Amino acid sequence: MQKKDIVLSGMRPTGALHLGNYFGALENWVKLQDEYECYFFVADYHALTTGYEDTADFKDNITNVLIDWLAAGLDPEKCTIFVQSNVREHAELHLLLSMNLPLSWLYRCPTYKDQISQLKDKNITTYGFLGYPCLMSSDILIYKAKYVPVGEDQLPHLELTREIARRFNYLYNCEVFPEPQPLLTKMKVLPGLDGRKMSKSYNNTIALSDSPETIQKKVMTMVTDPARIRKTDPGHPEVCSVFAYHKLFSPDEIEEVEHNCRNGEIGCVACKKKLAKNLISFMAPIYERRLEWMKRTDDIKDIIREGNRKATEVAARTLAEVRKAMNIDWI
Ligand code: TRP
Ligand code: SF4
Repeated sequence: MQKKDIVLSGMRPTGALHLGNYFGALENWVKLQDEYECYFFVADYHALTTGYEDTADFKDNITNVLIDWLAAGLDPEKCTIFVQSNVREHAELHLLLSMNLPLSWLYRCPTYKDQISQLKDKNITTYGFLGYPCLMSSDILIYKAKYVPVGEDQLPHLELTREIARRFNYLYNCEVFPEPQPLLTKMKVLPGLDGRKMSKSYNNTIALSDSPETIQKKVMTMVTDPARIRKTDPGHPEVCSVFAYHKLFSPDEIEEVEHNCRNGEIGCVACKKKLAKNLISFMAPIYERRLEWMKRTDDIKDIIREGNRKATEVAARTLAEVRKAMNIDWI
């Protein structure tokens, strides 16, 4: 049998996953597990790079992200699911790669400057945060991943990973690391409740863990076309978040909604009720599987133990090659 290409991706455990995360990544991961040899991990070290001060919710966040993944359809029979810090080889490779990584490569990462100016309330002028792209490169290279599904914001890190791989192979005259490629998917754009990008920090999300009642309430607060005051006012669906959602969740009714909106034949309240109904039925299977997994945290730990074991096997093999190439395999 031909060996399948390796796909790897990670996500920070920063709290309840929302529909933006689902359509931006998770939905795609669930598809990829059928076609590739996939490794998906909870990037808890990465969460520490910015969140080292308050780790009180750390364990709960990891459990919850795993529940979200399993509920969304990641299947431990098809892919390897693990927790980054449980596979110590990531940390060792990070250390070894850091030895020959020029500081200037890290300082010029656009995400570094961005985050330093955005996260003003946190002190992230730390060694760990500057080195975060090196850690990400280690995550990828230690599995010799061929493809890395990421959002566009992560592309500079992938470019850096390729440079690090090339530099290592050149310095130690070897071919240990292949160069990974991004796997960009056509993103389905789903705005937040207020029309801005869906983000936890804007408090405008619909979480996978929201109950049907919560979803109903949240949908009723969504912003619509501000030009519509009366039901009979002609609407502009292209500026309305509710309509953006209808496109995804009401494919059979989309023409009717658009027609009725443009001609002032449906009120926004009725339009939202229709959406809430469809959204709730879309999310119901995930929500129900979530409730089931919440009762099975011991099974989740077993799944992760097995995932950690499989990941460690591969990671340890690569690390042995790295140590050999660098001549630090004295015994
Ligand atoms: N940096 C990524 C993010 O914040 C998460 C991540 C860590 C990752 N290591 C990775 C993604 C390796 C892909 C591959 O979204
Ligand atoms: Fe938006 Fe529907 Fe209101 Fe039109 S009728 S503005 S699509 S909520």
